[in-house]
Amino acid sequence: MKKIALLASGTGSNAKKIIEYFKGSEIISVACLLSNKSSAKALEMATSFNIPTHIISKEELGNPGQTILYLKSMSVDLIVLAGYLKKIPQDLVEVYPNKIINIHPALLPKFGGKGMYGMHVHKAVVEQGESESGMTIHYVNAKYDDGAIIFQAKCPVQPSDTAVQVAANVLRLEHKHYAPVVEQILIDK
Ligand code: GRF
Repeated sequence: MKKIALLASGTGSNAKKIIEYFKGSEIISVACLLSNKSSAKALEMATSFNIPTHIISKEELGNPGQTILYLKSMSVDLIVLAGYLKKIPQDLVEVYPNKIINIHPALLPKFGGKGMYGMHVHKAVVEQGESESGMTIHYVNAKYDDGAIIFQAKCPVQPSDTAVQVAANVLRLEHKHYAPVVEQILIDK
C-alpha cells in the first residue's frame, strides 16, 4: 500500500476530494492529514473520515524534526499539499526529495510566488486581462511555487468574469484533476 500525507491550512476541499477518491483503493491510502492551523476545517473533515491528524506547531514550521518523525511513523510515500500556506522547510524537502507536491490555482510560472494565494491570484489574473487561467500541480522545493511542473489544466477567462467566477472555475479543475494526478505519480514511483 502506497501512503499519502495531506497538508492543508484551510477548508480542505481538495483534501476531501483526494480522501474520497482513494477510499476503498487497495493500492493507495491517505495515511494522515497535517495542518499548521488548529482551527482548520480540513482537520475536522479528516477526522470525519477517521483519518489521523497532526498539528504542526509554530516551532515545527522552522524545525521540522517532529513533523518528519510523524511522517516516518506513518510510512508516508508522498506528501500532498492541498491549500497549505506555509513554506516547506529545506530539511523536509531533503528527507522527501521529489516526494512533495503542491497545487497552485494559476498557470505557473505566472501568478506564483510569495503572497500569491487564494483570491490574490484570481484578482491579479482578472486585473491583468488574462484570457485564460487554470491550475498547476508541481513538485515542491524550498522556494514558493518554484519546483518542476507535473500537470496543468486551463480554463478560459471571459472579459466579464470576476475573480470569484475565475476562482470557481479553477477550483472545479483542481477537484477534477488532483487525485488522478496523485494516483499516477504513485503508480509511476
Ligand atoms: C486551492 O485553490 C489550491 O490551489 C490552493 O489553495 C486552495 C485550497 O482550497 N493552494 P481548499 O482548501 O482545497 O478548498
